[in-house]
Amino acid sequence: MVTPTSITELDPADPSFVANPHPTYARLRANSPVQLVALPNGTRFWIITGHDEARLAMSDHRLGKDPGLAAEHLRSGPNPLLSEKRPFGNHLLTSDPPDHSRLRKLVNKTFTVRRISALSPRIREISDGLLDDLTGRAQFDLVEDYASLLPTSVICELLGVPYDDRGQFRTWSTAVVSPNGGSAEQRDTAGYELRTYLSELIRLKAVTPADDLLSELVAVSEDGDRLSSAELLSMAFLLLVVGHETTVNLIGNAALALMRNPEQLARLAADPGLVDGAIDELIRYDGPIETSTWRLAITDLRIGAAEIRQGDAVLVALAAANRDPEHFPAPDLLNITRDASRHLGFGHGIHYCLGAQLARAEARTAFRRLSPMLRDHELAVPEEQLEWRPGLLARGLFRLPLRRITA
Ligand code: HEM
Repeated sequence: MVTPTSITELDPADPSFVANPHPTYARLRANSPVQLVALPNGTRFWIITGHDEARLAMSDHRLGKDPGLAAEHLRSGPNPLLSEKRPFGNHLLTSDPPDHSRLRKLVNKTFTVRRISALSPRIREISDGLLDDLTGRAQFDLVEDYASLLPTSVICELLGVPYDDRGQFRTWSTAVVSPNGGSAEQRDTAGYELRTYLSELIRLKAVTPADDLLSELVAVSEDGDRLSSAELLSMAFLLLVVGHETTVNLIGNAALALMRNPEQLARLAADPGLVDGAIDELIRYDGPIETSTWRLAITDLRIGAAEIRQGDAVLVALAAANRDPEHFPAPDLLNITRDASRHLGFGHGIHYCLGAQLARAEARTAFRRLSPMLRDHELAVPEEQLEWRPGLLARGLFRLPLRRITA
């Protein structure tokens, strides 16, 4: 059970929070870097908003990921905080050592620097093709027409999804991870179809391996240990889902941040050598992952002044930690030449983002060409009309309509 201390209400559906959560996080952090909050339905959990405390929590083995560790009241009732439904079984983000160590070791053998570097020319080709299609158009939607197409194609390329299946693949993954008005039933159906498709693809790769990650995952072994069919399916699903939405939102958020800060955009456009540092700063400033996934207390523990009890749920607000003034002076200012390398946008500890290198490669490719291009464009709608996706975990725009500036 949660200790009775002062509890702040947090309403993730409040439109002003959805549009800009940073002032709320700043208030929470000023109050206490680790504190108890309650959702409007009364569910309570700990939220971590300080940078030091966030790093501590994400490397503390007493905070686990298995949803079964949660106290009963968080798993039951009409609106449980943590669902016990696991349509894709256990994967990296729902497992703890020693299971997590085993899975991560096997996947690390395939998700190598060499594989991602080898993919870079293909990423450029895909990105250039998409941007060529936009050149000359008076108006386009950067999220719909570019950002959401790039990562799906790249993930398909990485996994070895046949070209002809990619349109269908994107429809399913969008319905599963970012349903836009669809019913729960439609989402379940898409999940089922995606699962069936991936199982068949895995079977195919076992029979006819190719030079792709999925074939390598099927074959990978460590001391005679291999991934089971169920684990392969979960892994493929995780890569697809996690790798898609994050990259879409990274590109959308970063483009908007640069357009709101034209002097920073001009610097980047003038000097492409700044792009790597700029990407770290853009992730720090308004990254695509607002909070970590849930962590559950395996035992009673203390972080800072907070007495966390076994079964309590903990959320690390990465967006808050990344604007902690103790670590980043003038945190609300975008400054692409600051050292933002200690940002926590990719997490920390054993669950540190597996796809960080891929995400950086995609963003680097995108912004080398996008930054000069964005200078010739402006928002095609008033800023207040931009709509952000609701929910605590992901931060991203539904659409970013841009139009060419005419002289
Ligand atoms: C585009 C920007 C991305 C950001 C900001 C991001 C961020 C994160 C964060 C914060 C975590 C840790 C979550 C936690 O500890 O609760 C994570 C984990 C993970 N990410 Fe990413 N991610 C990105 C892209 C990707 C891509 C492209 C892939 C793969 C194709 C990927 C695959 C994963 C996986 C598999 C994990 C789980 C690792 C584990 O539990 O061991 N991510 N990511």
